[in-house]
Amino acid sequence: MKKEITYIGNDTIQKVSKADFNTFSVEILKTSLENLSAKKKVINIALSGGSTPLPILEKLKEIQLDWVKFNFFLVDERVVDVDSNESNYKNINEVLYQHISSTSFPVLLESSSLEQMLLNYKKQIKKNVLFNKEGVPIFDLIILGMGTDGHTASLFPETKALFENDDFLVENFVPKLNKSRITLTFPTLLNAYETIVLIKGEEKVTIFEEIMSGKGKKYPMSKLKNSKLNWIIGF
Ligand code: 6PG
Repeated sequence: MKKEITYIGNDTIQKVSKADFNTFSVEILKTSLENLSAKKKVINIALSGGSTPLPILEKLKEIQLDWVKFNFFLVDERVVDVDSNESNYKNINEVLYQHISSTSFPVLLESSSLEQMLLNYKKQIKKNVLFNKEGVPIFDLIILGMGTDGHTASLFPETKALFENDDFLVENFVPKLNKSRITLTFPTLLNAYETIVLIKGEEKVTIFEEIMSGKGKKYPMSKLKNSKLNWIIGF
């Protein structure tokens, strides 16, 4: 497998072909999970939704790991019915959670208001994840994707949550989707022990290159540049 590794500031960029992207991403994630499992008794991971991670997460279930040590949270969730095909938790549960003996934490709850789900999720994170002295959770690993508008998590362009610096998890109404999301905020995304970003396809690679050249400030993902990200790029 042909790969190109470069370093820009504190970030590591690993470029592979689109055809090799999923296999390579599984290898990177496997190494990260094995390293964490060798070092820690409890590992807290936050996974992004969307389509890019799913074929990669599906392969992780085949790895022999002490899965019981792993707690899986969501980076963000769409505010939809619990059994909706749009639910990030439902989709990741189908390919990964239900096949391994880890603990996973859904955001969406039956017959609960958005406020109740938000409060419950904050409680779950506070109960399981270490916080720093500024009140920001420290996830051991965060896996991010990026949209073709440069959003990450549910931090979309021109939305309120982009400017949230106090709360670690908020509701974010996204006008262009006319939908609410529940999302981790930038302080939390910037505070993880390790962050892997999965970016595949020409359109997103163009945005990635704009961000890395300093010309992509309008993209929310640009806020995370140079924060020790491990960018996996499938072009
Ligand atoms: C979501 C994700 C979101 C995702 C990007 C990319 O809920 O949609 O958390 O941030 O990472 O939208 O999605 P794709 O991988 O489907 O392109």
